[in-house]
Amino acid sequence: MNRRGKTIIGNWKLNGSKQLMQDTLLELGSQIQQSPSANQCRLAICSPGIYVSEMIQIARPLGDKLLVGCKNINTDPHTFTGDLSAHTAQKLGCKICLIGHAERRAALNEGNYSYHIKVKQLVAAGVAPLLCIGETLEEKLAGKTREILQQQLHQALAGISFGDTDLYVVYEPAYALSSSQGLTPIFAQAVHVDIRALLTEILGQTQAEKTAIIYGGSVNCDNALSLIAQPDVDGLLIGCANSNLQYFRSICNNIFSLAPVFNYATERKDYENYMDAS
Ligand code: PGA
Repeated sequence: MNRRGKTIIGNWKLNGSKQLMQDTLLELGSQIQQSPSANQCRLAICSPGIYVSEMIQIARPLGDKLLVGCKNINTDPHTFTGDLSAHTAQKLGCKICLIGHAERRAALNEGNYSYHIKVKQLVAAGVAPLLCIGETLEEKLAGKTREILQQQLHQALAGISFGDTDLYVVYEPAYALSSSQGLTPIFAQAVHVDIRALLTEILGQTQAEKTAIIYGGSVNCDNALSLIAQPDVDGLLIGCANSNLQYFRSICNNIFSLAPVFNYATERKDYENYMDAS
């Protein structure tokens, strides 16, 4: 287990019933408290915007074990009808904010520089950015994964000082989303090592070491444990329609009950042995 711990992030998308979400959060909150891995794991939930404040009330007694936040902010704090600003998110009590999701990058054509401003405003407000990055299938097949990740990270993060605000980078390749299969754990680990090296170049070693690098993309009950056991996979982002919260609970239950097996030294050695052998 490394010092970043393991964070399970639920992207609860949109729609759904407040009651179902409240019940789910209460149950998961009590499970994480009782979990034998309580000192190693944390849970983070990005719920639909209209329910965020109820979720924050439920999460409050659990402090940093249960983080609740929003998805996306608008960088014009005054005029954009229907959106939240970083300041509003902070006033609401959001601890985290998910930005750069592949759905938004693809459909709304949001660019990396817009994420730079979002990250800056979130950090100024003390809300931890969860910055999603990832390549498309075409980019992967063209051997451009590292180049694309470098661009996305550099344009969004260079020059920003994070102070006490946490940074989460979510590696979520577009082609791995919502399919029957995510990436293999070894492939995810190898890309996370690259991402940490890129973060070291862009933000320096201290920030790179403390940044949680999360994997997202078709995490399910079958692959969650082997993904999260990788030394540089600091957590999982699990996207789930609200109709699927029961499935999300099952994945969390499996992880909360087994997490004490995480052992950073052993994981690192397994990974290095694998790389030496391949
Ligand atoms: P998925 O989605 O788990 O359905 O692949 C992840 C996400 O979109 O947040």
